[in-house]
Amino acid sequence: MITGRILQGLEKAGVSKARRHLFLCIGPECCSGAEGEKLWEHVKERVRLSRMDVMRTKAACFRVCTGGPWLVVYPDGVWYGAVTPERFDRIWNEHICDGKPVGEWVQALSPLLGCGSSGSGAGQCDPE
Ligand code: FES
Repeated sequence: MITGRILQGLEKAGVSKARRHLFLCIGPECCSGAEGEKLWEHVKERVRLSRMDVMRTKAACFRVCTGGPWLVVYPDGVWYGAVTPERFDRIWNEHICDGKPVGEWVQALSPLLGCGSSGSGAGQCDPE
């Protein structure tokens, strides 16, 4: 049951308007906690100042556990490793704003094959 409070929370998070969702692993295994927190604060400020419909979420582990901090950009499914505030600024400008991933820093691609996808996972959510 979706209550008014849940709807308010979803609205506040920007779920219905989001064009991209940034997931950050801020350590502690793939990078130091201080390094991760510094990047997280930078990302939050950058998103806030842009006023773009971009969601951001921090996580404690993506199970890679080396080469972080990690940033995954969805729906593109682009994984960036060793992200610093300076690198994030370039990723922001070229990938988030202009739609061109920074190829030299891409570590993996994982476009998710969910409902409505044209990939091999299409139809897997169909309850029939
Ligand atoms: S702690 Fe970052 S991937 Fe595990």
